[in-house]
Amino acid sequence: MSLEKCTAREKEMLGYINWEKMPGHVAFIMDGNGRWAREKKMPRVEGHRQGVEALREIVSFSSDINLRAVTFYAFSTENWRRPSSEVDFLLNLPEVYLEKDLPELVENNIKITATGEMEGLPTGTRSAIEKALEKTSKNTGMILNLAVNYGGRAEILRAVRMMAEKAKQGELSPGEMDEKLFEGYLFTSHLEDPDLIIRTSGEQRISNFLLWQAAYSEFWFTSIYWPEFSRLHLIKAILEYQRRKRRFGGVHT
Ligand code: IPE
Ligand code: IPE
Ligand code: MG
Repeated sequence: MSLEKCTAREKEMLGYINWEKMPGHVAFIMDGNGRWAREKKMPRVEGHRQGVEALREIVSFSSDINLRAVTFYAFSTENWRRPSSEVDFLLNLPEVYLEKDLPELVENNIKITATGEMEGLPTGTRSAIEKALEKTSKNTGMILNLAVNYGGRAEILRAVRMMAEKAKQGELSPGEMDEKLFEGYLFTSHLEDPDLIIRTSGEQRISNFLLWQAAYSEFWFTSIYWPEFSRLHLIKAILEYQRRKRRFGGVHT
């Protein structure tokens, strides 16, 4: 683990982590960029720009502490409702981020994946993502999953449509349709369900994120705006996660 960048406080807090009980997959609803900027009397897009800096730090730290997978909700299917200038800015960010960080991500053995309707994205965004997928496809370290143009409902409907199509062709019968098979049709078929979902900005809702996959996820909310989310917050979230008793519908042990 490379912890050179950690503050004394972060190192101290890391000392309390139970490395046997780490979450495998942590998913982030990066919220509050706009409010962060407004408080600083800056345009909303400055919040998004700063949000990318927070993302950078968290990706590298997550890999340092050996998380198996992290998902970042970068753009939802409902975010198209925003003014087109903001939409353009947001959709350009994967390109900006990957352009700069891809070499380091490759070097750190991180495997990039994407979940969401790629067809609906501008060409530049799409090709930046495709290049990143290709360049990291053989990597065996942490999975960095970018949820772009992602919506849980759209994802579920898409899976249902694909199964219905197969059924129509006579390749699938209703009796064969179970949870495992269904999951194979989701964007996240390559990922384990998130153990921990973190949402910043004080909002306590799921906003159409990983609806199916979050069935038994633990949630951690903080009033911190995403641009200010730091390693320390992630450590705190993991410590809280480790205090929880997950029962999955069973009996308390
Ligand atoms: C999160 O910040 C970024 C995205 C949704 C892409 P917001 O832009 O939602 O910030 P607030 O919630 O308006 O403060
Ligand atoms: C959720 O944030 C989506 C992303 C972080 C990409 P929003 O800001 O879009 O969610 P609502 O509108 O507050 O529910
Ligand atoms: Mg928001």
